[in-house]
Amino acid sequence: VSLLAPNRDLKGLTVMVTAGPTAEPIDPVRYLTNRSSGKMGFAVAEAAVRRGAKVILISGPTALKPPAGVEFTGVETAAEMCEAVLERFPAVDVVIKSAAVADYRPARAAAQKIKKNTDSMSIELVKNPDILAELGRRKEGQVLVGFAAETSNLEKNALQKVAGKNLDLLVANDVTQPGAGFGTDTNIAKLVYPDGSIVPLPLMDKLALAHRILDEALALREGKK
Ligand code: CTP
Ligand code: CA
Repeated sequence: VSLLAPNRDLKGLTVMVTAGPTAEPIDPVRYLTNRSSGKMGFAVAEAAVRRGAKVILISGPTALKPPAGVEFTGVETAAEMCEAVLERFPAVDVVIKSAAVADYRPARAAAQKIKKNTDSMSIELVKNPDILAELGRRKEGQVLVGFAAETSNLEKNALQKVAGKNLDLLVANDVTQPGAGFGTDTNIAKLVYPDGSIVPLPLMDKLALAHRILDEALALREGKK
């Protein structure tokens, strides 16, 4: 075989990736959202497709074009993302949840544009469902990979999320570090495992990090068989 032949090591596996922010409507012209370009999730989807996986990409609004060969579903709200993800979950082998899901949504979206006729206003927020935690409760052999962007106490928060959401791996990054922030093409991540081990990775291109995460997911999958 040619040395240039692509490595099809994910052939036969279905990988579901979530990406981007969610957008929670306040009124017809405004929404509440998170900072997320979608680049990390789209890079994972692209890397997985190149390695022969069947790829389902579920994304909130981004400026990116879905990679060729992926099954793409665009969503806006966390509730829509939750529904799309839960529907497909029983038929997938690996889930990579890089989406920046809004933790809260406005309790009510106003039917008409809110006018600026008061000096101050407040918006009541209610908690969104935690999609990843729900997958952790439902999982039956799927490999679950979460992401976390932190600005402080990275390792402590990451270990709590791995355990609390029943994850197989958490990719944590300190978004205050140069090269790890939002909208960049690079990331500085730590791989955090349920046994408490933490593997710090160097500054990497998002596509290289995507491949590294897929290597780990594949190893975890093989370990479960
Ligand atoms: N996540 C999710 N549904 C939510 C919130 C988060 O599926 N409603 C997922 C994200 O896609 C990510 C992981 O959970 O893979 C961690 O998200 P993060 O915001 O770091 O953690 P939270 O549990 O929301 O905790 P906090 O924001 O308080 O740090
Ligand atoms: Ca959150």
